[in-house]
Amino acid sequence: VQDGNGVKGLVDLGLEKVPERYIQPQHERIDKLDKCSNELLPPIDLSKLDGPSHDQVVEAIAGAAQMVGFFQVVNHGVPVELLESLKDAAHRFFGQPAEKKAVYLKGVSPSPLVKYGTSFVPEKEKALEWKDYVSMVYTNDTDALEHWPIECKEVALEYLKTSTKMVRRITEILIANLGVTLEDSSKVVDALTSLKMVNMNFYPTCPSPELTVGVGRHSDMGTLTVLLQDGIGGLYVKLEGKPDAEEEWMEIQPIPGALVINIGDTLQILSNGRYKSAEHRVRTTSTQSRVSIPIFTVPRPTEKIGPLPQLVERDGVAHYRDFIFQEYMNNFFGKAHEGKKSLDFA
Ligand code: SIN
Ligand code: FE2
Repeated sequence: VQDGNGVKGLVDLGLEKVPERYIQPQHERIDKLDKCSNELLPPIDLSKLDGPSHDQVVEAIAGAAQMVGFFQVVNHGVPVELLESLKDAAHRFFGQPAEKKAVYLKGVSPSPLVKYGTSFVPEKEKALEWKDYVSMVYTNDTDALEHWPIECKEVALEYLKTSTKMVRRITEILIANLGVTLEDSSKVVDALTSLKMVNMNFYPTCPSPELTVGVGRHSDMGTLTVLLQDGIGGLYVKLEGKPDAEEEWMEIQPIPGALVINIGDTLQILSNGRYKSAEHRVRTTSTQSRVSIPIFTVPRPTEKIGPLPQLVERDGVAHYRDFIFQEYMNNFFGKAHEGKKSLDFA
């Protein structure tokens, strides 16, 4: 499965039929879905946090985090030209010959910070996801520039650095909105945002998109995810509170210059369920390959995570147990994507 050129390698061979191992069972396929107009989830203008409409912006952020778990932001502090360069860099990286990418495969990568692969956890999946990726862990600037792939390291690092302030600010807003008194709230925010990772995802064109998924249903494990998607679309979020038989999915439609923000399991747990780590998935297309570039912000592996005690007291029940974040990660990466099952660990 882990051949050097992933799904892209298959597609480049001129494949006309989806190989058996990528065919999803009926209930995982993404066929006809209604599009949500962006009016239902208008992008949030973060520059307005510094003006007279500060309170409304805070309300919009907290409201979206509670209702949907996803929202889009504009005027986010990441230069729009950089977003364009990032998408180009992703195409450049994946467009290379197989042997250039294969050096970063698990087990042979020269750096523990960089991993190239395909699907999510291929050895555990019944049907593979139609996606290749390269993952870059951030420790410090020097390491990033030394270890990350040369085709994308500079833009990826710039993306991470120019988005950090926004991630911190949104996390602060969400913590403050919980209405708990914390001895040192900036310490809590530090703990939640201490580790970062940039991924570049590549979804090659697929001869039969109705049989496959780009990414299967899952929630993200960390605190916040920032996602840059290109103009192709196909990211769907499940709306909560509907019975399984009538599940409803909403497309996060691409908005030029915007970034998508979503809540991860860690914030759902910390907030004792107030914020939603939404289930989401990605459709494939037959016409153009798609790229997306998420930044995952997660706690340190040694961090103890659990619902905030004051919220447990207020709610009269802890919906989750306490655990060490490393255990959560091990569980998350040890299984195939399966909706919000990752939260059962807590
Ligand atoms: C993901 O959630 O894993 C990917 C999202 C995307 O590609 O839009
Ligand atoms: Fe995700």
